[in-house]
Amino acid sequence: MMNNGLPLDASAWLQEAIAAGVPVRPLLLRLLTADDTESLLALQSAADRIRRQTVGDQIQVRGIIEFSNHCRRNCIYCGINCHNQRLPRYRLTPETIFETAEAAADLGIDTIILQSGEDPYYTADLLAGIVRAVKQLGVAVTLSVGERPPNEYALWRKAGADRYLLKFETSRPELYARLHPGFTLAQRLLSLDQLAALGYQVGSGTMIGLPGQTAPDLVDDLLLMQHKQLAMLGIGPFLPHPDTPLGNVPAGSITTCLRVIALARLLLPTAHIPATTALAAGAGDARPAALAGGANVLMVTITPREYQQLYAIYPNRQRALPAPQELRQAVEPLARRAARLPTSEEERRES
Ligand code: 5AD
Repeated sequence: MMNNGLPLDASAWLQEAIAAGVPVRPLLLRLLTADDTESLLALQSAADRIRRQTVGDQIQVRGIIEFSNHCRRNCIYCGINCHNQRLPRYRLTPETIFETAEAAADLGIDTIILQSGEDPYYTADLLAGIVRAVKQLGVAVTLSVGERPPNEYALWRKAGADRYLLKFETSRPELYARLHPGFTLAQRLLSLDQLAALGYQVGSGTMIGLPGQTAPDLVDDLLLMQHKQLAMLGIGPFLPHPDTPLGNVPAGSITTCLRVIALARLLLPTAHIPATTALAAGAGDARPAALAGGANVLMVTITPREYQQLYAIYPNRQRALPAPQELRQAVEPLARRAARLPTSEEERRES
């Protein structure tokens, strides 16, 4: 195992360098590529400390409604890309979307994420009506529907949308172009700027372990997140989907994800960082580890059950999919472990 000659308090060193405005690229690269457990744990505990001071111990639970798996794009890693003929496609009606959001709000979920493939069936006006209706439930509304013209972002913002999620996936332009035939990183970043200018709280992020992605790329990803001053950072492993051109590529490393999440917390102390559902789709559920090392948000799918498996962006999603009535039970142990609170059984034993 290598710790890349890091000082024992490398995380503190990084924090000081960030505070002093010193260039941190070489240090980030060393912290990212060290593969010893001690440096990972030190990084995570530094990130955990900052998370506690900035966004606090409350885990934010956000409900995602994946309302359509139709997509006009051909992202070569994604199971719902338009060339996947094996996937049955679905769309939820505005009524179903509203009723789903209402049930979640009744459960106490105060942020609803409306997510879909890039599906032109939902016109700007149709989506604006959905946003307006969901907003009346008194929740925060996040949109995650891909790239659209700026006038549409503006219309939805007026309709009450508060936040927008649009991952840039990778900060290297050639890799972006290879993964997204016909689309450019420049356009993606322009969309992020347009959204920020409209007053959205903008979320973005990357996949870890994309084919051809290097450690310096990940450092650039982190620096881009910092440069854009993103409000929310989605960082998760690439997971090969068998019905895509990348079906035989190995999955991204979970420990690298944990390092990137911790470094992201050091670079953007006040950001919201989800323990992404993709972290739960591997052999073990890595979300508690993410929540103990910088992350502070849990995203829970509240898509009606019969459609959940069809939102197949990556395989083995079922591992991350609790039924709505299991929501509380699913979230509670994760929240407790992250906050290091005793479980109800431990509490019983102690009393
Ligand atoms: N593995 C991991 N994440 C994926 N996404 C799409 N396909 C995959 C995959 N195979 C993520 C991307 C995208 C979001 C909708 O899902 O980051 O932005």
